[in-house]
Order: sequence, then structure tokens, then C-alpha cells
Amino acid sequence: MSAGQMKRGFVRLLILVQVAAALAGPVAGELSMGYYGMTCPFAEYIVRNVVGEALMKDPTLAGSLLRLHFHDCFVQGCDASVLLDSADGNTAEKDAPANQSLRGFEVIDSIKEAVEAQCPGVVSCADVLALAARDAVFMARGPYYGVPLGRRDGTRSVASDTFLALPPPINNVTLLIQIFANVSLDVHDMVALSGGHTLGIAHCANFKARLQAETETLDSSLATSLGSVCQGGDSATAPFDRTSTRFDAVYYRELTSRRGLLSSDQALFESPETREMVSMFAMNPSYFFYAFQQGMYKMGQINLKVGDEGEIRRTCRVINS
Ligand code: HEM
Repeated sequence: MSAGQMKRGFVRLLILVQVAAALAGPVAGELSMGYYGMTCPFAEYIVRNVVGEALMKDPTLAGSLLRLHFHDCFVQGCDASVLLDSADGNTAEKDAPANQSLRGFEVIDSIKEAVEAQCPGVVSCADVLALAARDAVFMARGPYYGVPLGRRDGTRSVASDTFLALPPPINNVTLLIQIFANVSLDVHDMVALSGGHTLGIAHCANFKARLQAETETLDSSLATSLGSVCQGGDSATAPFDRTSTRFDAVYYRELTSRRGLLSSDQALFESPETREMVSMFAMNPSYFFYAFQQGMYKMGQINLKVGDEGEIRRTCRVINS
């Protein structure tokens, strides 16, 4: 058999495996591909349409939708707890300090409304969020990955649950590794998922400490431009990289030039534990895409509620009464 035939055979096998995986039953715990195939066959299509419309109007929402899914999964698992509104006597996750700048809730509301109109009480908000993040990444020219479905929505959302669960933007890789390990993500996942910062912006409040204390690991021209941004106060913003609405490996290339925005970004290049991964992702965007897909797949399985647990919320902002 020639090398060409072997390669074609391998590609066919790969496609077959992917098709089989897509049609198969459970793939991850009790989640499965095509979970809504019989009960809400157009669910994924609806999500894609609404996300597409939203990003046409405002491409910066791609990063916001990705971040929403991340902040959902790291606190109480991927159960849409981040979407719940505060109520009398309870400050919800979304009103915790680390979540103050989350955006994109309206997009999720529109998707849920459209899905409920087609198939009421079937598709969870947690699945809507996982799909919206995937589609947002893909529409920003990032990798496409399958999202196994069947998550159920949680009923608890408490601001203080975010305190130890969400990583702060500080210069300490050991702590970042620990926070990811708490949800069974390893250091490789941590570095790959941090590549989510190829999209979006941060507020001066979150990077001004770097301007003051990290001059040795901060490119001087970036220091000057961020300095003038922060003259606008804590609420002024800067993009994570030069291509902040495009999903690419530029984020890692910036880190290798000491142009990371947050202390936690630059720390990935400065720490011997993670420096090589940053360099690899910077040099090989396809490898970054692959590692990001794997990381997102794992992140989407954190502490799931399935079977009898949780509920299928009618609207994503309140638990069913
Ligand atoms: C490694 C630990 C991480 C830390 C310390 C961190 C911290 C932050 C901070 C401080 C901001 C800016 C908030 C603001 O000023 O408005 C931010 C934004 C963002 N984060 Fe992270 N993050 C981390 C990991 C991740 C991961 C794993 C993802 C996704 C997989 C992600 C996706 C994003 C995105 C897309 C934005 C921009 C959001 C927007 O423009 O609306 N981050 N992150």
C-alpha cells in the first residue's frame, strides 16, 4: 500500500470514527451527542442562528460568551448557575466581584426564548450556554468541537461560591494550577484554556498592578500605551491582544514578547512550569486549537447535573417555581 493510500485510508477512518461518535449514545458520563435529536432537533441550529446574529451586530460578544461558559463551569459546575439573577436575601454569582464585567446574558435569553418557542421545557440553559460558547469561538475563526449535551440546570447561585473557584488575575502560576486542578483540569488544560484571552478585553482595574510592579516582564511600549489607557480610570479597557475579535495564537505570541495584559497571562511565560507550552502554542496555532478543543471538552463536563438532579429552567434567569 502506498503512503498516499494509507493516508487516505486513515482520513476515512478518522471521519468514520467522528461520525460514529456523533451518532452514538452516551459519550461523557450521561451526556451524549445528538441528545435533543428526537425532542428538539433544531436546538443547535437555533443557537447558531441567534449567536450569529448577535456577533454580526457586536463581534466583541464572542469573548463574552466564552467567558460566561467558563465562569459557569468553574462555580458549581456547568449548570447555568451564573445566569441566575439575585433575589431577595440572595446575592447570586453574577453579582460577585469577579463576575461584574460578564456580558452576553441577553444573547442567552434570546436563544432560550427561541428554543422554548420550538420545544418548551426541553433544552437546559447549561446546554444553551455550552453551545453558544462553542459557536462564538467558531464564528471568531477558532476551532469547532462537538458538545455532548444533557446537562441540567442548577438551583443554587451564591456570590460567595465564586471566591475560591474563579482564578484572580495575579502573578502566581502555582495558585492558577491549583484552581484548575480543583476542577480536574491539568496544567496543560490551564495554559490552553487561558488562550481564551485571544478574545476580548480587560479593565484597567485588573491590569494596573502589572504596570506598577512588573516592569521587567512588561514590554516598554505596551507599558506606555497601557499607562495612558489607565489615565481614564479603572473602568478604561484594553484588548488582550492585537486581534481581539479573532480567535488565533497571537495571544501566546504576545506573551513571548512580554506583552501579556494580565499578570496571570504573563506569568504563564515567566514560569518554568508553563513557559514551554506557551512557546509551543505561539509557534504552532493548530496545536493550540487542538489543545483548546480538548480543554473545552473537559471543562464542559465539570460537576454536571444529570438524570434526576437539577431542572430544565424555563427562563435562564430564575429557577422554576
Ligand atoms: C487562567 C486564569 C484566568 C484568569 C486569572 C482570568 C482573568 C480574567 C480577567 C481579569 C478578565 C478581564 C475582566 C475585565 O476586566 O473585564 C478576563 C477576561 C476574559 N476571560 Fe479570563 N481568566 C482566566 C482564564 C480564562 C479562561 C479559561 C477563559 C476561557 C476559556 C477565559 C476567557 C476570557 C475572555 C474571553 C475574556 C474577555 C471577556 C470580554 O471581553 O467580555 N479566561 N479574564
